[in-house]
Amino acid sequence: MQADYSDANVAHWCQQFNIEPSADSPWLITWNDGLQLQHKQQQALWLQLSFTDGRIGHRTQQAKFQSEPVLKAMKLKPNNQAMVIDATAGLGRDGFLMASTGATVIMYEENPILAMFLTEGLARAAADAADVTERITVHCANAIKALPTLTADTIYLDPMYPSRKKSAAVKRDMQVLHTLLPPPGDADDLLESARQASVKRIVVKRPKTAPVIFTDGLVGQQKAGATRFDLYAPLYPIDR
Ligand SMILES: C[S@@+](CC[C@H](N)C(=O)[O-])C[C@H]1O[C@@H](n2cnc3c(N)ncnc32)[C@H](O)[C@@H]1O
Repeated sequence: MQADYSDANVAHWCQQFNIEPSADSPWLITWNDGLQLQHKQQQALWLQLSFTDGRIGHRTQQAKFQSEPVLKAMKLKPNNQAMVIDATAGLGRDGFLMASTGATVIMYEENPILAMFLTEGLARAAADAADVTERITVHCANAIKALPTLTADTIYLDPMYPSRKKSAAVKRDMQVLHTLLPPPGDADDLLESARQASVKRIVVKRPKTAPVIFTDGLVGQQKAGATRFDLYAPLYPIDR
């Protein structure tokens, strides 16, 4: 993986994630009290992760008291001790919410730039929310190979979905992901692999009108606004 950067702080992080300096990259990584990603041609496409203020911080506070749809689908109530695998961590918003309820969250993110932003964002968040961040582990790896070997209560999958035509309606963070990442295509393999894990169930986040990934093992659905959570049984359920 390559990116354009020069700052010493950025170089320190990029080296850890094997991200090579390259002036040819469409993305510039800078340091602004934390890592910042900027598309060179499209000013509106930028990213900096913040878990403890802004929207996520607000949702985290709320999550302690009232159920977010994702927490309801995951059956995560405040002060739980669940073990969750967030196999498509992305920007870590859902996983951070889950950890804020008390769950231990193992994150997998295969894109090195996103895994680096996630790890650095969580390191910064530790100053204000160490109780949450200490329950989160990030693996920069493809989850498909790992999942069948893992044991947990629940696996969460939020695979990328092709971007809608009305791109103005898509939030900036998601526009960055759609531009940075290759077209989505591994949802079937992810779910098939997740069903081989030793878990109680698998929760898949989808747009409300999207078709299910497949029907084998589908045991329920929960709708919330524009989102739907498809609930799957594993092939080898465990009793934790
Ligand atoms: C829609 S985003 C997830 C957003 C996330 N739920 C959040 O709250 O920010 C999907 C992410 O899954 C990652 N991904 C897709 N397939 C993967 C795989 N097989 N292993 C690990 N990560 C994967 C993509 O790189 C992308 O960052």
